[in-house]
Amino acid sequence: MFAAMRQPVGAGFKPARESFFLCLLRQENRASLSKGNVVMPMLDKSIFEQLRNDLSEELYRHCQGVEETAAKLALSLGYCESKARLAGLLHDCAREWPHEKLLDFAGQHAIETDRFALRSPVLLHAPVGAAQAYAWGIIDGEILAAIRNHTLGFPGMSVLEQIVYVADKIEPGRRYSGVEELRVLVAKDFKLGLKQAAAQSIAHVLDKNQLLHPLTVSFWNWLIEMH
Ligand SMILES: [Fe+2]
Ligand SMILES: [Fe+2]
Repeated sequence: MFAAMRQPVGAGFKPARESFFLCLLRQENRASLSKGNVVMPMLDKSIFEQLRNDLSEELYRHCQGVEETAAKLALSLGYCESKARLAGLLHDCAREWPHEKLLDFAGQHAIETDRFALRSPVLLHAPVGAAQAYAWGIIDGEILAAIRNHTLGFPGMSVLEQIVYVADKIEPGRRYSGVEELRVLVAKDFKLGLKQAAAQSIAHVLDKNQLLHPLTVSFWNWLIEMH
């Protein structure tokens, strides 16, 4: 099953198979959730049903694209594919929540609502999404961090956070100027691709004359100092 996915990121994309996770729910397959000392959370079918119900068709397709892309990146980087898939699929679980709901949820769950989030509540979909995933029983800290930091970036990102950050920018449904070049760069040199993805994201913020969040500045500075 995995061998079929050993191809350049973005090439030959087909919609994700929801059955991948559903098959993991069967008792006999649960052993495959552990790789080394990595233990996946117990998955509940209702999570995926809930996700499907919560998201528009378009956003669900995007999440499937991020899942598939994250899986391919994980394979190429020697990272746990199952964790990358789960983080990719869930990363935008709160993306379509109304602003009021995001703000309410953040207030109820002690999620920081800084002046950037107050000005642009959609930014909260990342930390709120992580809290929602936790409420669904996802307890793996790396997966939760990957969801939480996929929008603004974070200095000192783990490999999984980097994978989801990049996959979000290059999944096959993405259409913007420069995305194909970014896909090629990521396939050739992941670290350079990550830096380029961050640069494009920051350029987009500047183009739109929006505030640049300090976390994104710290993320960028970390990328420069690290590479
Ligand atoms: Fe997002
Ligand atoms: Fe996304």
